[in-house]
Amino acid sequence: MGNIWRLGILTSGGDCAGLNAAIRAVVHRAIHTYGWTVYGIKDGSLGLMSRPLQYQELSLDLFNGNMLRMGGTVLGTTNKGDPFAFPMPDGSKKDRSGEFVEGFHMLGLDALIVIGGDGSLRILNKLCAQGSLPMVGIPKTIDNDVHQTEFAIGFTTAVNVVVDALDRLQPTAASHHRVMILEVMGRDAGHIALSGGIAGGADIILIPEIPYSLEGIAAKIEDVRKEGRNHALVVVAEGCKTEDGRPVTVAWGEQARYGGIGHYLSEQISQRVTAETRVTVLGHVQRGGQPSMRDRLLASAFGVHAVDLVAEGKFDRMVAWQDRGVVEVPISEVVVGARCVDPAGPIVHTARGLGIYVGELVDIVSAHTPLVG
Ligand code: F6P
Repeated sequence: MGNIWRLGILTSGGDCAGLNAAIRAVVHRAIHTYGWTVYGIKDGSLGLMSRPLQYQELSLDLFNGNMLRMGGTVLGTTNKGDPFAFPMPDGSKKDRSGEFVEGFHMLGLDALIVIGGDGSLRILNKLCAQGSLPMVGIPKTIDNDVHQTEFAIGFTTAVNVVVDALDRLQPTAASHHRVMILEVMGRDAGHIALSGGIAGGADIILIPEIPYSLEGIAAKIEDVRKEGRNHALVVVAEGCKTEDGRPVTVAWGEQARYGGIGHYLSEQISQRVTAETRVTVLGHVQRGGQPSMRDRLLASAFGVHAVDLVAEGKFDRMVAWQDRGVVEVPISEVVVGARCVDPAGPIVHTARGLGIYVGELVDIVSAHTPLVG
């Protein structure tokens, strides 16, 4: 190993299951294989912008066997406060990027590993570029919308929660002859809704990438009835719009938060079919809990490979999962917005093949590609 001695690691953006497993893998590889000192930066970029700096040395004794299993992130995180336009108490925005770069040097770091989604990786990469700070990224997000990787940490755990919810909703739907609507996370991309809906036996799956019609939904529910079933399951991603294209959000200060598309659909479906509807909004339970086997494996493989990239002096890259293994990709190919569901891809093809209503892009010729989504 060359001349890296002090490695920083931070988690940024919304938490998800598997972050602690990734931190654990980084610490193990950095200390066992390379003999480095590892510093955990608290609360994402905020830890390096705070004075005094907010960090903790991560020694092997902190990893007492529990870390692999724990949801959340022991380092804390933030999905607010872009350092380039940081919201100040007086309502103004301030560029605090210099404080981040200064914090990196104050701690004497040689390199930084960032675990984040597409938005966090974009901001952190810009911060590191500004200060010429060596950085390697690890993809995480339940939304699974990071480019160049088939899976991001947190996705499969979240999908398992969706499947578990559908397993619970189906018997109660059948008992009461109801249409059950499950609203799941997914702001820009419908990967959670699509994978969870297929695996959980949904009849209708609505995702932001594919327009739908209320008549099409009603017709599907009638078809289910004609086939002799007295109930139906609908999964909708929170980022879906109304039929006429209006986003369904709740105003929250300066922000607009997603939420409400499930209730909109409930009302609209009730007007079109004679069936009772009920809505479940799954929310943040999708982010917490113990990581799935795949998320533990992914986090472990990503952590080890990220440290190896640092050791090899390969920066401005992200570790990614492609074709059953870990690869490295340039960050510049990742930070180009959300990786959405391909309406002509293999998963939508599977849904359509099962007779699931997934919206109405009738001219799509489903094609098989090796990538998920
Ligand atoms: O990006 C991940 C995500 O879980 C989205 O699916 C969801 O819209 C958002 O985070 C929720 O963020 P918050 O924790 O700020 O409510």
